[in-house]
Amino acid sequence: MQSVLSLSLALTAQVGAMTIPAEPFAGSPTSDIYPPPGSNFRQHAALPPESVVGFAGPTPTGVEPAAVQTAPLYPYNEGDSSSFPLVAPNAHGAGVDSTFNMKRYWGNLSPWYSVPSAHYGLPDASPLIPEGCTITQLHLLYRHGARYPTSDAAPARFAEKIANATKSEGGFEVSHDLKFLADWTYKLGAELLTPFGRSQEFLLGLEHRQLYGELLNNFTAQGALPVFRTESQDRMVKTAINFAAGFFGVPEYQDEVNIEILVEASHVNNSGAPYDVCPNADEKSKGDIGSGVANKFAKHAFDATLARLNSQISGLEFDDKDIVAMLELCSYETVALGYSAFCGLFSEEDFLNFEYYYDLKFYYNNGPGSPVSAAQGKGYLQEYVARFTHEYPEPYSALNETYDNSSTYFPLNQSIYADATHEVVVLDTLTAFNLSALFKGPPLSLKQNERRNSFSSSRVVPFATHFTTQVLECPAYQPTKQIRFLVNDAVLPINESYPGCEANPHGLCSFDNVVSVLLKRIEEIDFNYDCYENYTAEAGVDYNGRAPRG
Ligand SMILES: *[C@@H]1O[C@H](CO)[C@@H](O)[C@H](O)[C@H]1NC(C)=O
Ligand SMILES: *[C@@H]1O[C@H](CO)[C@@H](O)[C@H](O)[C@H]1NC(C)=O
Ligand SMILES: *[C@@H]1O[C@H](CO)[C@@H](O)[C@H](O)[C@H]1NC(C)=O
Ligand SMILES: *[C@@H]1O[C@H](CO)[C@@H](O)[C@H](O)[C@H]1NC(C)=O
Ligand SMILES: *[C@@H]1O[C@H](CO)[C@@H](O)[C@H](O)[C@H]1NC(C)=O
Ligand SMILES: *[C@@H]1O[C@H](CO)[C@@H](O)[C@H](O)[C@H]1NC(C)=O
Ligand SMILES: *[C@@H]1O[C@H](CO)[C@@H](O)[C@H](O)[C@H]1NC(C)=O
Ligand SMILES: *[C@@H]1O[C@H](CO)[C@@H](O)[C@H](O)[C@H]1NC(C)=O
Ligand SMILES: *[C@@H]1O[C@H](CO)[C@@H](O)[C@H](O)[C@H]1NC(C)=O
Repeated sequence: MQSVLSLSLALTAQVGAMTIPAEPFAGSPTSDIYPPPGSNFRQHAALPPESVVGFAGPTPTGVEPAAVQTAPLYPYNEGDSSSFPLVAPNAHGAGVDSTFNMKRYWGNLSPWYSVPSAHYGLPDASPLIPEGCTITQLHLLYRHGARYPTSDAAPARFAEKIANATKSEGGFEVSHDLKFLADWTYKLGAELLTPFGRSQEFLLGLEHRQLYGELLNNFTAQGALPVFRTESQDRMVKTAINFAAGFFGVPEYQDEVNIEILVEASHVNNSGAPYDVCPNADEKSKGDIGSGVANKFAKHAFDATLARLNSQISGLEFDDKDIVAMLELCSYETVALGYSAFCGLFSEEDFLNFEYYYDLKFYYNNGPGSPVSAAQGKGYLQEYVARFTHEYPEPYSALNETYDNSSTYFPLNQSIYADATHEVVVLDTLTAFNLSALFKGPPLSLKQNERRNSFSSSRVVPFATHFTTQVLECPAYQPTKQIRFLVNDAVLPINESYPGCEANPHGLCSFDNVVSVLLKRIEEIDFNYDCYENYTAEAGVDYNGRAPRG
């Protein structure tokens, strides 16, 4: 294992040929152009690149895609812009004129798409700044783009089962829908961002430059470069770089922003990877209850399809785990290779159940149904509030004081913040923020796919999902400083979970009130108890993300 980044080493690190001190740099702002012409903004030497930081995690690459000859459908540039240039067949049994978009039912493996505010109860809200207000600050917490399966995921095991069967005496025989399996091979790598994942982040950066670029003038006035943060895993670094490339341009991003890489490793504090210091996070009767109930649900949810597929193969029998692996392959192959033959095996109902499988997993592992989700989201929540109160956050959570106690690592007065993380952490964070509109309704049924809760994983934790805060100056309001929250473009109402916030059609509330509610929330989330204590939690309960007491 590489040695942990030494700060003293980093402070003297070389950037290009020049040694640059770690202090912020004085620019010479001359205009409202970012960066000002003739300025001498420099990146902090204390924020070195991936090659210096290390801890990139596993990086097995996959086979090159060849969709132009392997896909039966061409990715014409029309229609669903959230997933260009991916293509998917119709679901099994769907009519030719079906409008069902299976890519929106893949849970955390879906590409992100805009969710209407009406879904959470604000039919008249728009992500555009409400009339009479101006934007003064943007906070963005976003997930990496589409990636290969993680190292321990089901698809690789499935591929091994197929490979074993191929090698066995007699092999296996397939017919009908499964014919393609006769010469199918596993082409995916692991962990890394896929080409489509790069494009999601580039576009997200570009979109935010187009929407919020004006806020860069604030950095010009300060004579400082923004600090955008991410974690050390390769896909996290590449996510931040692609976002920055979209936002600042290529090669400009190399000079116009500091990308801060926090070490993500077991037992190392990092608000972007809190599970590394929260032992209860993967305990079966605590932070992992969602995985248990999701697997239980999946055991029989796909029985009809399992029977159909097993009737089309001999020499090999599929079980319930193989069905989930094949559904995952549908998504993973599509986002890596552009198309997957597995997708056409499944009916619309299968995809709805596949999504529900993820809904259960996320609601009970990282949403309000988890006893340790708020604790894991607490680090970012504290950092976020610190950016408003201008006081460095106290630790007592997964945050790392080293990264949070100086203006180099943790500037407190930026007009734009952009932090990259994982979907589990985005959801932990939304739970820590008490954004109950995302989870309105009874706790998710463990037995059947009922739609009685506003939560769905494809809407909240897809690839490149993002949680946005707009801070606004609204002369027509009293007080004039207002704030609101958005998730994937849907404006969230907070009047029912932020005491003191009244109903507002634009999701607005007084900035000072929101900060005081969040301070209270920080108080009530007990990281040490929730992450370390021996309690028992069960699925089926809305814990508001916090461990049950005695
Ligand atoms: C494949 O075969 C190897 C060697 O017999 C065995 O160790 C492995 O468990 C098999 N894998 C699966 C997924 O069945
Ligand atoms: C904070 O991060 C630094 C740099 O990665 C690491 O050396 C240190 O161990 C971390 N602190 C804690 C308490 O984990
Ligand atoms: C690191 O995390 C632990 C919780 O695991 C927390 O108690 C501690 O205060 C943090 N320390 C620093 C230096 O950030
Ligand atoms: C920030 O935290 C580090 C690690 O705990 C410590 O060595 C350093 O002195 C602190 N710096 C400030 C400015 O408090
Ligand atoms: C923002 O913080 C930096 C670093 O502490 C400081 O140099 C700069 O003056 C601050 N700008 C404003 C507007 O407060
Ligand atoms: C820059 O933005 C910060 C944070 O919103 C704000 O406090 C500060 O007044 C702004 N400065 C200028 C010069 O616009
Ligand atoms: C969180 O939201 C619930 C309603 O969903 C509310 O009863 C509670 O007071 C809120 N907590 C805080 C700290 O504001
Ligand atoms: C909160 O706001 C929503 C949307 O404006 C509204 O439907 C709801 O009745 C409000 N709730 C309360 C308790 O005021
Ligand atoms: C945690 O509590 C359970 C139930 O009381 C008990 O069976 C178990 O041994 C305890 N585990 C630890 C590590 O103390």
